[in-house]
Amino acid sequence: MSSPAAAAEPANLMEALVSLAKRRGFVFQSSEIYGGLNGFFDYGPLGVELKKNIRDCWWADMVRRRDDVVGIETSIIMHPKVWEASGHVAGFSDPLVDCKVSKNRYRADQLFFAPVVVTGADGIAQTVGYVSALESEKTAEDLQAAAEQLKRKKAIQGTLAAVQPRDFTEAKPEEISLIPSPATGNPDLTPPRAFNMMFQTNVGAMTDASSVAYLRPETAQGMFVDFKNVVDTGRVKLPFGIAQTGKSFRNEITPRNFIFRSREFEQMEMEFFIHEDDDWAKWHRYWINWCKDWLKSIGLPDSHLSEYDHLKEKLAFYSKGTTDIMFKFPFGVQELWGIAARGNYDLGQHAAASGVPQTIFDEASKKKFVPHVIEPAVGLDRIFLAVLTAGYAEEQVTDEKGNTETRTVLRLSPRIAPVKVAVLPLLKNKEQLVARAQALHKKLQRRYAVFYDEGGAIGKRYRRQDEIGTPWCVTIDFDTIEKEGDTFTLRERDSMAQRRITEAELFALLEEQVY
Ligand code: GAP
Repeated sequence: MSSPAAAAEPANLMEALVSLAKRRGFVFQSSEIYGGLNGFFDYGPLGVELKKNIRDCWWADMVRRRDDVVGIETSIIMHPKVWEASGHVAGFSDPLVDCKVSKNRYRADQLFFAPVVVTGADGIAQTVGYVSALESEKTAEDLQAAAEQLKRKKAIQGTLAAVQPRDFTEAKPEEISLIPSPATGNPDLTPPRAFNMMFQTNVGAMTDASSVAYLRPETAQGMFVDFKNVVDTGRVKLPFGIAQTGKSFRNEITPRNFIFRSREFEQMEMEFFIHEDDDWAKWHRYWINWCKDWLKSIGLPDSHLSEYDHLKEKLAFYSKGTTDIMFKFPFGVQELWGIAARGNYDLGQHAAASGVPQTIFDEASKKKFVPHVIEPAVGLDRIFLAVLTAGYAEEQVTDEKGNTETRTVLRLSPRIAPVKVAVLPLLKNKEQLVARAQALHKKLQRRYAVFYDEGGAIGKRYRRQDEIGTPWCVTIDFDTIEKEGDTFTLRERDSMAQRRITEAELFALLEEQVY
């Protein structure tokens, strides 16, 4: 039996994840044979299982196992007035900056710059130029290095000040013509302009302004627009939630970091409606905690999770508070799940725009009012990337002969692992072993995603399963067929420990761990 030693993070974790995702059929670039399409991805045979498992766990815990949340599925293309009322037509934009020479496009809030300030022998501080850098884990360092290089290049004497990075949205008009483009190194950048991120399409045969519609940029509006339908047809009473999962589309200026920010992605959102007099802060905190606990239940470690409270002065006027659950991705700590207290803004907007009141009559208080809402909104693809990030490890393992090798292992929770059990007959040319293994495989397959593999040395087969995150391998060996008890070898992915187990015990283990 092999034993694991300390796991080491690979030098470039992101590269390792992208490579594993491609190699083992988790994620491919969309339309790859045509060179790919930036910001779009396909999920392969294992990826689609992993994604479905995450979605199913969320649905089970968020909807089916709760008495106060119901689910819906609304259309991707909705009446264009929905997006006027929600504010998306007017305001769902990112600040865009063009480089006039390279034609590269940047999001202004991801493009950083700093004046290069040098203090001469006379004690006078002077700005001798500007430097720029794209947002990264080490933006300030990159800017400082660029500032030093500029000072050297211009042969300026004096003491260089520490750079004070600002993003391009904060550039003063007179600075814009001085800040170098990251592509050309020359001041070729345009002033920022608002770029609406909604994808447009046309509904019906006409392609004029009257037929313009949008691919939804969030699933949330479906819950607001169907609020009355759910209240009138369901047996919901405050506080209650409406949830849905589904595709959203955003024409992101800079899709990046693999599936972290793409142009077509899947959201899992829930609108939790509360009494207007209810304690919104209490519910807000309740849902932040719920979301964190849920992330842990699918295997994300506490050490990778943190909270970020949006600054009051940067919130929309109707917002009472937004907290993001942040995750330590390979490229830095970034937003995973936003939990927003939105007041009654959305229902109020739709009531005003449609003329259909969005009130509810509350039996307890005998009052009619527009409920307030707490909205936990998360991206499924981001959770997918988070579980790969947290689960990936390269370990040095030593076998019983003393040989050391590196094993790649994906420590996925059994709840979401794409394959729960691999069934392996020890030898493929022993009819009895194969027959018993196939019978077990068929039986397991009725309830679980399992994999049958008879090719190659047993150690190699274990490694193939480790790499795709299969929590258990079951080997049908000579003890199975020769000894009493019909037991198999159960090999655990993380500890690599082996023990004997009966079929009934195996099903009991799965029942307990896969829920
Ligand atoms: N209804 C609120 C809403 O959509 P958001 O913060 O814009 O809020 C919610 O999006 C979540 O959707 C984010 O926390 C993130 O997990 C995911 N998300 C947003 N844009 C994304 C993109 N371009 N690619 C992948 N996931 C994205």
